[in-house]
Amino acid sequence: MPGMVDTHIHASQYSYAGTALDLPLLQWLDTYTFPVESHFQDLEFAHKVYSQVVKRTLRNGTTTACYFATIHTDASLLLGQIANELGQRALVGKVCMDINTAVKDYKETVQESQDETCRFVGELLKKKYPRVKPVVTPRFAVSCSGALLGKLGEVAKNNNLHIQSHISETTEEVALVKQMFPDSESYTDVYRKHNLLTDKTVMAHGCHLSDDELILFRETGASLSHCPNSNLSLCSGMLDVRKVLSYNVKLGLGTDVAGGYSSSMLDALRRTLDTSKALTIQDPGYHTLTFEEVFRLATLGGSQALSLDAQTGNFEVGKDFDALRVNVAVQDGPIDLIHIEKPMVILEKFLNLGDDRNIVEVYVAGRKVVPFTESAE
Ligand code: GUN
Ligand code: FE
Repeated sequence: MPGMVDTHIHASQYSYAGTALDLPLLQWLDTYTFPVESHFQDLEFAHKVYSQVVKRTLRNGTTTACYFATIHTDASLLLGQIANELGQRALVGKVCMDINTAVKDYKETVQESQDETCRFVGELLKKKYPRVKPVVTPRFAVSCSGALLGKLGEVAKNNNLHIQSHISETTEEVALVKQMFPDSESYTDVYRKHNLLTDKTVMAHGCHLSDDELILFRETGASLSHCPNSNLSLCSGMLDVRKVLSYNVKLGLGTDVAGGYSSSMLDALRRTLDTSKALTIQDPGYHTLTFEEVFRLATLGGSQALSLDAQTGNFEVGKDFDALRVNVAVQDGPIDLIHIEKPMVILEKFLNLGDDRNIVEVYVAGRKVVPFTESAE
């Protein structure tokens, strides 16, 4: 099958994945996230965490990942180097933030953030990694002054770069952004005004967007990353994916580690179905997503959301060979095949019951990247 595309994952939060899910978003950031992310000026620590997260996601079948790192440029460059060495296709973002953090020193000035983003982009592009690219990364409107958002919009525009951030994840955050940016019509309008809503933009969550905001997404070609594990784990909200698709907004799936506790895209796919079914329980007339649709979102949908669909997402002639070899009935694996089944049934079983034991080989651009070669272990 085609490799899976994780459209939103915080590589720097991998060390505490599976813990710290007892607070709402804004408190969660100050209590758990910023203290951990502030340690990434230590390149040895960064190397350890970033190697583990790239290996883990590759083994789980993520052939393309769109990463948040931290505010530290050199550690973010190291994440790019590790993804390149291990052979994962990746967008890598040095995080930008200048306000609203409880952790002293875990922020930058506008000038520092702009200068370091330019250094990050310049140095990463200079490496000429074939499948690792920079992405301009304002953390979210709560963490960024209007001045910083404006500068980052300029940098992205002048260099035609990818952009990623968060939007409308919780109602508390939406209210705070409204208070911080009283001249903007909506949260989406804040990003649009600062040139951050383009056809190379991916915004995570979007649980609480209005119809007018979805129209702005469609008009600009910006996309959404649906992160259902995180949305449920932090009690943020439930994105109505059916509605987003009906507005013709591009949408992919994301793990959002560590707000989402699982780094597996199979989990993101299952939580997407769960959320759709929860919406159906609330409204029995709701048009529940099917596993075929969600499979598409985890692969081609993700590649479209990241504007990488000319290179990856399916097996169309001319694209790179990003693929998983799946053995549904692998020895000592999680699935028992009782009968000979049709391919569609086998796929459904794998998507619902499978794990990395079934993913026996992973290819990115034709290179076998799982199992790892000895030097990678
Ligand atoms: N909003 C701003 N930063 C973050 C983050 O690190 N994780 C999540 N889930 N939402 C955010
Ligand atoms: Fe996130």
